[in-house]
Amino acid sequence: MNKLQQYLETAYRKRTPKSAALFERASKVMVRGGSHTLRLWKPYPFFVESARGSRVKDIDGHEYLDYWQGHYANILGHNPEIIRKSLERYVKKGTFHTGFETVVQVELAEKILKSLKYQNYKVRFTTSGTLAATYAVMLSMGFTGREYILKVGGGWHGASPYLLKGVKYYPGSGFNAPDSAGLPAEFYKKILVTRFNDGHQLEKIFKKYGSKLAAFILEPFIGVGGFLFCSPEYLKLARNLSDRYGVILIFDEIISGFRFLASGVQKLYQVQPDISLFGKLIGGGQAVAAVVGRSEIMEGCEKPGARELRVHFEGGTFSSHEEYMRAGLAMLDYLSERQKDIYPYLGRLGARLREGIKKAFEEEGIEVVCTGEVNEIVPNSSFFMVNFPKKKATYETPEDIWNPEVSDVFRREEILKLALLINGVHVVHGGGCLSTAHRESEIEKTIQAYAETARLFRKFQE
Ligand SMILES: Cc1ncc(COP(=O)(O)O)c(C=O)c1O
Repeated sequence: MNKLQQYLETAYRKRTPKSAALFERASKVMVRGGSHTLRLWKPYPFFVESARGSRVKDIDGHEYLDYWQGHYANILGHNPEIIRKSLERYVKKGTFHTGFETVVQVELAEKILKSLKYQNYKVRFTTSGTLAATYAVMLSMGFTGREYILKVGGGWHGASPYLLKGVKYYPGSGFNAPDSAGLPAEFYKKILVTRFNDGHQLEKIFKKYGSKLAAFILEPFIGVGGFLFCSPEYLKLARNLSDRYGVILIFDEIISGFRFLASGVQKLYQVQPDISLFGKLIGGGQAVAAVVGRSEIMEGCEKPGARELRVHFEGGTFSSHEEYMRAGLAMLDYLSERQKDIYPYLGRLGARLREGIKKAFEEEGIEVVCTGEVNEIVPNSSFFMVNFPKKKATYETPEDIWNPEVSDVFRREEILKLALLINGVHVVHGGGCLSTAHRESEIEKTIQAYAETARLFRKFQE
């Protein structure tokens, strides 16, 4: 452990004795003391007592400006009034039920389809992005009768068995190794990985494997891979190649859906996939994900007759649970009614934050690259990720973000995290996303926290 890390850990431990004790207790009964790897940072996470808007409060009484915002699901911040009210009305009615079809799910499906404006597409709900991605792959395989899947290096689609390759960067193999134990080796042979935004490589892979590919799945705005937008040429090429070889094109919009406009970011690119995946914010903070695809593919879910032709997409016990659907509907109604204000506001704050952070580090002579920038297609971005380059790089690919020879990944993931926590700011992967609950004054406060961090980095460098 270096001196700075030691200093930060000591300061963090001093502030959070109750969380430390609870983590110890949790570790006795829960694997590694919790339920999600990303929430279990070192030396231990703080435990949350309450959350409202831009802020969370831990059980030791400290408040943090939060940019994790429910794994990027909370575009209106934590605990937004409009969702709370919608759920309160439902609870007051006192008619909870589980496991029946309701009008609310129809309304949510209509809302999503209306935002996309496609003919002959259908929706099926489930409860997580992981499940949505899994079902989309199964539907593609069922429809095409093929078994190979192509994905992007650095692309994360949840812990779907079909897609757990090329998620993490491993020195030596880069983004091309299996990411999980517990899966048949056969699976991995049939998952192919291509470089993000590399049209040349995409053409080569389609030429070689096109007739074997069931689907090409990608995020038009790659999330964990570094908050980077695909180029419009790349998405168009993906569409053309998929058409030429009869491959199902899947856009994973679980992060980007309704984040940049009140629809999929695909509408800005004007590229129409065969299947889109939505999740996170379409549930208004509840467990909702949706597979939205061309009707003829989606009909595979309920194909009558031959068992082997039917894709077992049942959604799950809590699929389209009324409470979740109500929250999702309240969210999408709100976003579509106010999109003219919401997205430019988030974009303005995002630009200020990215610029302010960069300047704060520059003033201390520390080079940073802040990804999450807009491109020629998407005018507003509420994302930011602070990277510390070790060598000159363009920061246009997940390789630049995750190769430890290019970026100081440890500094971004662990050191920066603790330094910001002791300055009252909570980030993941060096940054996160904004919500409409974040005020301009809080952005300035956040920039100050990064400036304080930069000064600390400088001090410990000397
Ligand atoms: C792009 C993308 N796809 C899929 C998923 C998986 O969603 P979930 O965590 O709801 O299973 C995530 C989660 O972060 C994601 O970012």
